[in-house]
Amino acid sequence: MYEPRHAEIIEGLTRTPARISPKYFYDERGSKLFEAITQLPEYYPTRTEHAILEQSGPEIARAIGSGCTLIEPGAGSCAKAAVLCGLIAPRCFVGVDISADYLSEAVQRLGARFPAMDARALGGDITRGIHLPDDLPAAPRLVFYPGSSIGNFDPPSALALLRQMRALARDDGGLLIGIDLPKDVAVLEAAYDDAQGVTAQFNRNVLAHLNRLIGSDFETDDWRHRAFFNPEESRIEMHLEACVPVDVHWPGGARAFAMGERIHTENSYKYSLDRFCDLLAQAGFARARAWQDARGWFAVVHAQP
Ligand code: AVJ
Repeated sequence: MYEPRHAEIIEGLTRTPARISPKYFYDERGSKLFEAITQLPEYYPTRTEHAILEQSGPEIARAIGSGCTLIEPGAGSCAKAAVLCGLIAPRCFVGVDISADYLSEAVQRLGARFPAMDARALGGDITRGIHLPDDLPAAPRLVFYPGSSIGNFDPPSALALLRQMRALARDDGGLLIGIDLPKDVAVLEAAYDDAQGVTAQFNRNVLAHLNRLIGSDFETDDWRHRAFFNPEESRIEMHLEACVPVDVHWPGGARAFAMGERIHTENSYKYSLDRFCDLLAQAGFARARAWQDARGWFAVVHAQP
């Protein structure tokens, strides 16, 4: 049977160099490993963004105003939405995620914490364009995209995504987005190659996920984690490198990897505020205001048409 999702995976595996989209990191184990990553001493983005929201919360809230309809693509556990809802008291919250089951539980919990807010869960993928329910309040819409998730997209794809968000926000709304800024290479590389090896497990786990999805026979122990900063592209790259010669098979195909050959699994772009504001302007957000931590490692940006 033709399964387009598998076709995309196999196309990536048979390319040279091979690649796997980072969206396949997040099976159940991968989601738990990512959660563990956010708590590692080396992984600063999550706690730095949280600190900015705490420190500059009142100012951010004043810039946004209360009573909006808050829309969060990739809402997941809604943990960050809970912090923001405490600050801006939205009238309505629409959490959007590919895995709608997990999301609806999280949205229910959020609704219980903020009983005056109309909390809704919507299954969907922002990169494919989402269709909002047509009975939302007439309030201005704020799109919330925290965590520097935008960094997973190359600049043209990031621009396309920002344009989607601009359309969702309409002319009277806005975007609140987290951006991981360029910094000392040692700090960046440690965040993606931690001492406990949690990121290495997270990276290798994508192969176990693929085995279930396409019926391949990857041995995760044959692969080592590689993560480094690419200064030309201003991005962290993650790869899996074959420690031995590897033959992988799946129903209908196979691929041989030489020892040392790599599979590219993730890019995490680090945009300077200037470059990012350029992208925002190209996407139709003319105004932007940013809040940073004291070290200038991360920024929370509020953009408006
Ligand atoms: C979820 C895309 C923001 O790029 O920092 C963390 C994913 N990969 N460690 C990031 C990730 C390796 C993370 N994002």
